[in-house]
Amino acid sequence: MSPRWTTADISDQSGRVAVITGANAGIGYHTAKALAERGATVVMACRDGDRARRAAQTITTATPIAVVGLDLASLASVHDAARRIRERYDRLDLLINNAGVWWPPYTRTEDGFELQFGVNHLAHFALTGLLLELLLATPASRVVTVTSLGHRSGVVDFDDLHSERRYRRNTAYAQSKLANLLFTYELQRRLAADGAPTAALAAHPGGARTELFRDASPAFRAVNAVIGPLFTQPPDAGALPTLRAATDPHAPGGGLYGPSGPGQFKGSPVRVTSSPASHDGHTQARLWQVSERLTGVSPVTAPGRV
Ligand SMILES: NC(=O)c1ccc[n+]([C@@H]2O[C@H](COP(=O)([O-])OP(=O)(O)OC[C@H]3O[C@@H](n4cnc5c(N)ncnc54)[C@H](OP(=O)(O)O)[C@@H]3O)[C@@H](O)[C@H]2O)c1
Repeated sequence: MSPRWTTADISDQSGRVAVITGANAGIGYHTAKALAERGATVVMACRDGDRARRAAQTITTATPIAVVGLDLASLASVHDAARRIRERYDRLDLLINNAGVWWPPYTRTEDGFELQFGVNHLAHFALTGLLLELLLATPASRVVTVTSLGHRSGVVDFDDLHSERRYRRNTAYAQSKLANLLFTYELQRRLAADGAPTAALAAHPGGARTELFRDASPAFRAVNAVIGPLFTQPPDAGALPTLRAATDPHAPGGGLYGPSGPGQFKGSPVRVTSSPASHDGHTQARLWQVSERLTGVSPVTAPGRV
């Protein structure tokens, strides 16, 4: 068995720029902390500036952590954040699409998208597209998108993407997390076909004890209090698959990382497989087209053509 991969395996990240969405809490926070501690210039892209600055202050590293306002429930905010990042940095080594919402009551984003599909997938699709020029200008850059074991039950319902006919929280979450993978694989296919220096990878944390479950029902909380510890790990361990996908020089484009233990709930970060549905090329291409139409962003993956 290979030795356990830890943050000690992260190579020196000095001079590299990493943008992490939802970095003020949970897995994103521990991803930011570990990268900053290895010398990266970390940009926390978060919706609540005060929370983000307070989180940044708890990480004491030589390079101060920067904060950029980003509300993924607003395409205008996505455009604004991307513009600020492009203005401030002349390279982008790592874009980590981490932020997410889980099982909220039915809500729509500013642009009318169902919240989980809008925040978890569409906004990250747009952010990536708007930052691709910077990524393509940076050697060995990577886009890492955080998905979930929940993708396995996901189906992309192209006839009701925004759950207008019927909203089931778990179904909408699973759709958004499957979309994260369909997007990653299609992005990687396009980048490779265009000979780009950028790779697209995905990671899932297994089960991690974070604030994600804030909208859980009392019944879910009761069950989780009993069996949760069996299936979850601390948030710093939950960040390891993301960190490995972002920094392991041997991690290939299109690779998915998750915990090694039974059921992939916890353990050392290793390369894992995803559902057959996530590898459906037709659905990948269709979702890409629909995401372009809904966001108005058409990611250009060919260097020099942006
Ligand atoms: N925890 C798990 O067991 C688990 C399992 C599978 C997958 N995941 C995935 O892991 C990722 C991180 O989740 P977590 O567990 O670390 O949860 P978390 O502690 O709730 O952190 C989620 C982060 O996303 C941010 N966020 C939510 N809505 C946003 C918006 N509209 N704009 C910008 N940022 C927004 C939150 O910001 P605020 O602090 O302002 O709310 C927070 O920083 C998610 O993609 C989630 O789906 C987690």
